[in-house]
Amino acid sequence: MCGIVGYTGVHEASPVLVAGLRRLEYRGYDSAGVAIVSDGRVVVRKRAGRVRILEEALDKEPAVGHCGISHTRWATHGPANDRNAHPHVGGKGGAVSVAVVHNGVIENHSALRAELTADGFLFLSQTDTEVIAHLIARELGDGDGLFQAVQRALPQLEGTYGLAVISPRCPGQVVGARLGSPLVVGLGEGEHFLASDALAIAPHTAKVAYLQDGEVVRLGPDDFEIRHRERGSITPRIDRIDWKPDAVELGGHAHYMLKEIREQPETIHDACRGRFRRAEATAQFGGLNMTPRQLRRVRRIVFAACGTSWHAAMVGEYLIERLAHLPVEVEYASEFRYRNAPLDDRTLVFVLSQSGETADTLGALRESKRQGHPTLAIVNTVGSTIAREATGGIFLHCGPEVGVASTKAFTAQVAVLTLLAIHLGRLRHLSFTDGLAAIEAVEAIPQALGEVLAKIEPAILKAAQRLAQTKSVLYLGRDLHFPVALEGALKLKEISYIHAEGYPTAEMKHGPIALVDRETPCVFVAPRGALHAKTLSNVEEVRARHGTIISVGTEGDESLEAISDIFLPIPDVPEIVQPLLAVVPLQLLAYHVALLRGCDIDKPRNLAKSVTVE
Ligand code: F6R
Repeated sequence: MCGIVGYTGVHEASPVLVAGLRRLEYRGYDSAGVAIVSDGRVVVRKRAGRVRILEEALDKEPAVGHCGISHTRWATHGPANDRNAHPHVGGKGGAVSVAVVHNGVIENHSALRAELTADGFLFLSQTDTEVIAHLIARELGDGDGLFQAVQRALPQLEGTYGLAVISPRCPGQVVGARLGSPLVVGLGEGEHFLASDALAIAPHTAKVAYLQDGEVVRLGPDDFEIRHRERGSITPRIDRIDWKPDAVELGGHAHYMLKEIREQPETIHDACRGRFRRAEATAQFGGLNMTPRQLRRVRRIVFAACGTSWHAAMVGEYLIERLAHLPVEVEYASEFRYRNAPLDDRTLVFVLSQSGETADTLGALRESKRQGHPTLAIVNTVGSTIAREATGGIFLHCGPEVGVASTKAFTAQVAVLTLLAIHLGRLRHLSFTDGLAAIEAVEAIPQALGEVLAKIEPAILKAAQRLAQTKSVLYLGRDLHFPVALEGALKLKEISYIHAEGYPTAEMKHGPIALVDRETPCVFVAPRGALHAKTLSNVEEVRARHGTIISVGTEGDESLEAISDIFLPIPDVPEIVQPLLAVVPLQLLAYHVALLRGCDIDKPRNLAKSVTVE
């Protein structure tokens, strides 16, 4: 949520900063701005709207200089307009002594605003960020430098921040600070970068240092130093970005979402790579940091996550119950973190997050650890806060996900959860034969998914035309497909703005069926399985009420096809891996409906990738 880029070095700062913003725009797209130190003063250009509008402003009025900061905003305090756009400047009597960009929320901003106003500082925006700019300006005074001023200002703030600051008094310096909102330093030759996400700096350098909470960094073109508020000077760990910068190019696809949907045969393969142990009919994970003995002691699993990751966790619940016979609870991270949820020493807590930065999921992780529980994470982003703070876990290895609507991360999560269920099952009662069959079923998915993607689009287009003008859609699925139905409904509502609800198929009779009429289509997720005959009866119940029926079913299932208006076939695969295939037509359906409705698919309204505020 929101994106920060900072630069100091031999090149013109503005093109580097704007290119970085374009790569981070999926993090927030309400407004964008840059501030550059230029001839002993700070030049600020900022505009409501997309980065493109900022670029047009910079074309008309360039900002020239070799050191600067930039921001793309997802509005929290104050509406999206030019004034509230970042950077914000601090100083008295019209003199600008600092410019600041900020991700996070300052909780005591009202009290600080009153204090600074009484002290003679004039506020121009409604944001919480502007208090940071004036506080640093006050601390800078006539004193010893920006790095020290920022360190004196920070203890006065309550809340969360990832900050980048420049000052004409310290040309060539960018100062950053992190508490609860990520920042990464990029190390180049004669240049340094600062960003809220490694995506922004990947084209320039693969060498990065992730800041930790409580750390402040000073970057110059040729050197940098980091200090922790309690531990003093820090020698950072230097990491390498493990994906290629072109992983985040569109590569000929119309949208990131479509690209990421189509990548799924490879990303599922990558998520499973090296994890099959055929000889023992199991799967294995290097990073769990738990012995087989410790895993056998587990009596209950709790998954905490948000949104799509929560849906993946629900598929995990069904799979672990089925294959390992362990009770599983799936919690909304935002609820779990503030509840006094009973956990005992035989409960294993997992958090799931694509970004590894979701504030509520991080809160759940910290709460579980605070209660003394080892807490594992299933995460995509290496180097993210959740990945670093978890006691162990599983990386998804599905590459950066740029589309705001999560797709490939969901299937990667479900793939590793399937392997986890097999692993936990094999540590208990799951037989060699059943374990091997399950492993083989997962291994076969990338190819089966390739077949789905090669054939299904014409039928999806027909279905999309049926849904494009509708006001509301019901998604129904049973057993493992109930979470898939929830995920299908979420995809549709977030990118096409059509109301959609997911329900367990048989639950429909207990209320939602009242919504069914000629105007309300139902999407059934109904591949063949143990409960198929019952599902067919539920489809008939909708038909009897003249509802349009779109169904995802097993190739050759004539009974389902005959009672569906549009049939979306997937290959015949074992039940435990059906969710990995069944969700993909739903992702494509949402995509094509949104396209027909002219929606901005990669930047849906009000949303942003990675929700780093509560
Ligand atoms: C929906 C979507 C969100 C995220 C949720 C959690 O398409 O992307 O619902 O799944 O915000 O994000 P992560 O997984 O990054 O913690």
